[in-house]
Amino acid sequence: MRITMIGSGYVGLVSGVCFADFGHDVICVDKDKSKIDALEKGVMPIYEPGLDQIVAENVKSGRLTFSTDVQNSVKDADVVFIAVGTPSRRGDGHADLSYVYAAAKEIAEHCTGFTVVVTKSTVPVGTGDEVERIVKEANPNADIAVVSNPEFLREGAAIEDFKRPDRIVIGLDDDRARGVMTEVYRPLYLNQAPLLFTARRTSELIKYAANGFLAMKITFINEIADLCEKVGANVQDVSRGIGLDGRIGAKFLHAGPGYGGSCFPKDTLALAKTAQDHESPMRLIETTISINDNRKRAMGRKVISALEGDVRGKKIAVLGLTFKPNTDDMRDSPAIAVIQTLQDSGATVAAYDPEGMENAKKLIEGIEYVAGPYEAIADADAIVIVTEWNQFRALDLPRAKGMMKSPVLVDLRNIYRPAEVAKHGFAYHGIGLN
Ligand code: UDX
Repeated sequence: MRITMIGSGYVGLVSGVCFADFGHDVICVDKDKSKIDALEKGVMPIYEPGLDQIVAENVKSGRLTFSTDVQNSVKDADVVFIAVGTPSRRGDGHADLSYVYAAAKEIAEHCTGFTVVVTKSTVPVGTGDEVERIVKEANPNADIAVVSNPEFLREGAAIEDFKRPDRIVIGLDDDRARGVMTEVYRPLYLNQAPLLFTARRTSELIKYAANGFLAMKITFINEIADLCEKVGANVQDVSRGIGLDGRIGAKFLHAGPGYGGSCFPKDTLALAKTAQDHESPMRLIETTISINDNRKRAMGRKVISALEGDVRGKKIAVLGLTFKPNTDDMRDSPAIAVIQTLQDSGATVAAYDPEGMENAKKLIEGIEYVAGPYEAIADADAIVIVTEWNQFRALDLPRAKGMMKSPVLVDLRNIYRPAEVAKHGFAYHGIGLN
């Protein structure tokens, strides 16, 4: 198959590279020339474990190329994926589809022969219909089937997720695309990954429903954690106790500082808006959004309470800035609100993150960015673990204590055992623990 990927951001790049690894001929396209130049030199625009290696292998084999030229890249393609950004539109929270529509128009103008156009970007229900309309308007002779094929990749585990998916969802209303899409995913299909064919609108909704449900699940356990603190229960045991029920499932029941990242905040907002627009409001999702928003600042207040309600003039060591480990992504990271709350209350902050510092510097000002965890901990009044990077899981606590003004550890990810930390003379504050 000749596959063209329009948009070499996170989703497009990972998907394009993995398709090349399946044996397809893939062109990854992006308007950003500096990004394409860098990729051609083997420099990755994002941090994702294993990505550079799989890119290098597939470039070497000749199956993967990069281009800024949509016209020539689309011409001979059997399948063109649209994997451009769909940011939340400023003001109304709707997904901004202008990049998707612009890509659709360009594809229509330059494709030849029967071409399957696949939206991989997360798009609201009905976008496929609009893409089809735009294609027909731009080129009435274009022979195109428009398909929806949402991605369910987690940052930091994207290649693994792509190669070993729980399922592949393919929404189409034109049956000619079915065989083509089966061929695109043949290696996975042969490995028994279920290919779920649905109508196009259904597939579009599946993506939002999945992310909405997961966001709700996290938010549920976060509220249970708050209750645990009040009633003297342990949220980790509650998670285990409910997660062993196969109907609930053990995953996504880690209580923490609230979800962040590029997907959950944006997709829950878009789902709520779509539901409102169709006069079928999703109150569970609306509530999830507001609970999660409030939680991030509440985590800042939790640190303040751990320091007897006053952080004026105190130094807080923040370990971890990204919204989760193994990524450099700072989008909607709880660290932003936690630090803001601490700063508003008069604290100074020294922060360290293994991969996220460059992106953090663009978002969080007025803090000290340091070269390692112990540089942050030196002279601090408290340590706050915001992101569960592996290197924070085994801090040398006696060393840390010796460097600090007061030994307080606020562990927003529950990566330490309270008893062990207490043994080293720390005041320990986890999430929902007792
Ligand atoms: C998510 C979805 O998992 C993926 O299927 C979708 O396509 C894109 O969005 P991602 O944002 O990369 O992926 O990260 P994920 O690992 O799902 O975590 C999202 C957020 O939830 C993080 O902030 C994480 O810390 C938080 N989280 C996750 C919890 O607080 N508790 C959990 O139990 C799981």
